[in-house]
Amino acid sequence: MKTIEIRGTAGRCRVVTGERLENLGRYLPGGKIILITDGPVRKAHGQKCPPMEVLETGTGERSKTLDAALELYEGLLRLECDRSSFIVGMGGGIVCDLTGFVASTYMRGVPFGLIPTTLLAQVDAAVGGKNGVNLRGYKNMIGVFSQPRFVLCDVNLLGTLPHREIRNGLAEVVKHGAIADGKLIGFLETHGREILNRSPDALERLVTDSIRIKAAVVNRDERERGERRLLNFGHTFGHALEREGGLSHGEAVAVGMAIAAGLSATRGLLAPPECRRLYDLLRDLGLPFRPPMDPENLVRQIAKDKKRRGDYLYFVWLHRLGEAVVEPINYHELEEITHMWWQGVLHES
Ligand SMILES: NC(=O)c1ccc[n+]([C@@H]2O[C@H](COP(=O)([O-])OP(=O)(O)OC[C@H]3O[C@@H](n4cnc5c(N)ncnc54)[C@H](O)[C@@H]3O)[C@@H](O)[C@H]2O)c1
Ligand SMILES: [Zn+2]
Repeated sequence: MKTIEIRGTAGRCRVVTGERLENLGRYLPGGKIILITDGPVRKAHGQKCPPMEVLETGTGERSKTLDAALELYEGLLRLECDRSSFIVGMGGGIVCDLTGFVASTYMRGVPFGLIPTTLLAQVDAAVGGKNGVNLRGYKNMIGVFSQPRFVLCDVNLLGTLPHREIRNGLAEVVKHGAIADGKLIGFLETHGREILNRSPDALERLVTDSIRIKAAVVNRDERERGERRLLNFGHTFGHALEREGGLSHGEAVAVGMAIAAGLSATRGLLAPPECRRLYDLLRDLGLPFRPPMDPENLVRQIAKDKKRRGDYLYFVWLHRLGEAVVEPINYHELEEITHMWWQGVLHES
């Protein structure tokens, strides 16, 4: 068992890996406890929790809304939840984001803990204190920064996860390795088979290393004024690909990272063999790395989306697998580099 501490402005969070859901009781205070979860997670793992009141929410991004929050507020009221109560959120990133938001706003804040049950939620969504809901299809528009008291990560819960969800989470693990930890990249390269077979030891190493990286970044820059932007590696093109290319978030981030690595190499920041290593790793983990559409169109899409923030955007550049920097670039330059890189790719194939 390992404990990683996150020191947020509004409180400290203890993230525990290598723990079992069956030990949840050890982390709970006395008093009323209310569990927020969704149907599939409750069915798969609810019986491992100590007896407590349960509020069930829906699944999918359409359940991460103010309407869903309102239903939960009403449920909390019905169960006579107050600030002496404790809320536990158990589920994927959707349940974790929604629970954090509801717990932090109901009666100006009820203490809460999270049990992430997807790989993505364990390595990313449950860690870092960002939570919130979508508004009119725009993601995470309403929310707060607030830290849970604990995050309990049990990799055994990932056994019931569809394969696609494992790959989604792996993309974020590759991201953490690429920006900050060459050794984690090496581990992913040599242990692909164990990881895809969900060996608990291999998964535990990934989850612990990933959380350490994210926690270190968040501890230095909780509110995303500088360094936390590193965690957006692969996400500039990733978000555009998710919307335009019909890819899942993890697949889109994988392709987004491959593009960012390609652009870094085109600019002479990254050695071409390191770039190829990233492509090979993504392929071996069952993730895509080639854009399914002309990436120059994606730059136009990115520019259109972000125009309100000025002419430039912060882009994460790779220096090697394990080291990245954030530097602004204007859209025109980004378009030019993308063009140069894409011509090179088309020429090679
Ligand atoms: N707050 C953050 O910093 C942060 C970071 C990254 C992502 N996110 C958010 O996370 C969300 C995506 O989360 P996700 O990828 O975990 O998806 P998700 O929460 O939709 O979960 C995927 C599906 O798997 C099911 N499921 C969950 N755990 C299961 C298990 N152990 N066994 C069987 N089925 C299970 C769920 O019911 C759900 O239908 C997005 O809304 C994203 O914005 C937040
Ligand atoms: Zn992501």
